[in-house]
Amino acid sequence: MCGIVGYIGQNDTKEILLNGLEKLEYRGYDSAGIAVLNDEGMNIFKVKGRIAALQDRVDASTHATMGIGHTRWATHGVPNVENAHPHQSTSGRFTVVHNGVIENYQDLKKSHLQDANFVSETDTEVIVQLMEKIFGELEDTAEAFRQTVSLLKGSYALGLIDREDQDKIYVAKNKSPLLIGLGEGFNVIASDAMATLKVTDQYLEIHDKEVVLVNRNFVEIQKLDGTAVTRKPFTAQIDVSDTEKGTYPHFMLKEIDEQPFVMRRIIKEYQDENNELKLDGDIRAAMQACDRVYIIACGTSYHAGLVGKHFIEKIANIPVEVHVASEFSYNMPLLSEKPLFVFISQSGETADSRSVLVRIKEKGYPALTITNVPGSTLSREANYTLNLYAGPEIAVASTKAYTAQIAVLAILAVDSARAKGLSLDFDPMQELAIAANAMEILTDQKDTIEELAKNYLATTRNAFFIGRSSDYYVCLEGSLKLKEISYIQAEGFAGGELKHGTIALIEEGTPVIALATQEEVNYAIRSNVQEVVSRGANAMVVSMRGLEQDDDAFVLPHVHELLTPLASVVPLQLLAYYAALHRDCDVDKPRNLAKSVTVE
Ligand code: F6R
Repeated sequence: MCGIVGYIGQNDTKEILLNGLEKLEYRGYDSAGIAVLNDEGMNIFKVKGRIAALQDRVDASTHATMGIGHTRWATHGVPNVENAHPHQSTSGRFTVVHNGVIENYQDLKKSHLQDANFVSETDTEVIVQLMEKIFGELEDTAEAFRQTVSLLKGSYALGLIDREDQDKIYVAKNKSPLLIGLGEGFNVIASDAMATLKVTDQYLEIHDKEVVLVNRNFVEIQKLDGTAVTRKPFTAQIDVSDTEKGTYPHFMLKEIDEQPFVMRRIIKEYQDENNELKLDGDIRAAMQACDRVYIIACGTSYHAGLVGKHFIEKIANIPVEVHVASEFSYNMPLLSEKPLFVFISQSGETADSRSVLVRIKEKGYPALTITNVPGSTLSREANYTLNLYAGPEIAVASTKAYTAQIAVLAILAVDSARAKGLSLDFDPMQELAIAANAMEILTDQKDTIEELAKNYLATTRNAFFIGRSSDYYVCLEGSLKLKEISYIQAEGFAGGELKHGTIALIEEGTPVIALATQEEVNYAIRSNVQEVVSRGANAMVVSMRGLEQDDDAFVLPHVHELLTPLASVVPLQLLAYYAALHRDCDVDKPRNLAKSVTVE
């Protein structure tokens, strides 16, 4: 969380930094700030809140050709101007922006900085105060920077400026994402290439525990021990237009609408020369070699993992466990003899998942990452990667990445089944194409779903989602979507479980949204609906064509019963969207959240 950006070049830096921060706002929006250096000295502008407020705060007459910026998701210290980045050392000589958490900041304060005068509650401030102290002893900024960084424990992507030097930005990285963008006569730093795509598509990856000196005309990467590192740049494969809203009022709505196209792109990307869905031979071999798959993920990606378990067990006959990443490290189950770890992560940067990846790699187990960002940390550090091809997902609430994850997991299951010589009783490519068409039909039904959102969710305090079998997994996702953007307290339950306690919460008018897409459990889920209706619930049944009953609120087009999550989640995403809209919530940037969760 938090996003950082920096520019050093020939042009005025303000616009480049503010533009970049706008693109990074998905990483946090508690406060924002920039620091720009010119002959008059360091100029710092900071606000509590969004980049739009920072834009108003920045003095338009300040001209500078280098600077750094930050958008914050608060960890240490409440969101206010004092805790907003950039932070300065007491003398004002050093200024820093930082994404991550300095875990030993209290120890460093005690061991090195007892006399320092701290003005914020942040962990970040130790970086500049340490710089000032060590620089006082060495009188050499580059060496002081290296020594400062060597003392830091935890995660950091940071950019630091020395007030006395308009030719360098000092950069360091550990665990938090960071790229250096390369240009003619200028260079940039950014947490995500999206921030600076307008000025360059050439980027250098920075690895953990490297420090970088960024000048207008060159970039020097070093390991912490001073060894020089050479690395080739890569071209960022993101289209600038993919990062814009276009005519849509919100990114979330745009991304919901993109889902059918993402499905079709996935089908195309994973097709071989014989027009069959196929994966890389190494991944196929890894799936064949394992005796159990352990899926590790968080939030929405975890929900996709549950659907993936269903696929891999039913289609490929391989046992699967799905674990919440943040619990796995200290609650590690007894592992099978030949495990394969599958990490599912839209961003590829989630710290909880990464810490599991680090641990299982130490034990020598193989890992596959399924991600939307192939160059991300989880992708680089795993043995294999499967790309989601969903395009940048900017709304904080994940939609198209979730359905892309499900589609890729279906292909993984199908490929593994074929590798084992198992016959399939359906044509996966055709069924995925049918699901894509169904999604398109559903995204065309916005008016109907908006009406349902108004009728069921406009004023309610809470809501329940019930489903059985794979519908239950989609209920978990539907309820997460609703709660995170509309702040309605929503919970997803296995249909049969509600009566074991939670049914006590059903009152006159409580909305209960039931999914009924599985023939095997259609009768059972409808009985559960009757149980809540008898207690006053306002039930809304979303069923599948062929299983519908007269008073169902919404009927989905028919898709293969294994792939129903691809269709049934769409009205739930739209319900959440319209509920949030009608409750005047900030759909794309819900309170307290950030898109890329890079703290554990
Ligand atoms: C919810 C949402 C989150 C993420 C979770 C994991 O809409 O987006 O629950 O799914 O933070 O993030 P990734 O997939 O980037 O690892």
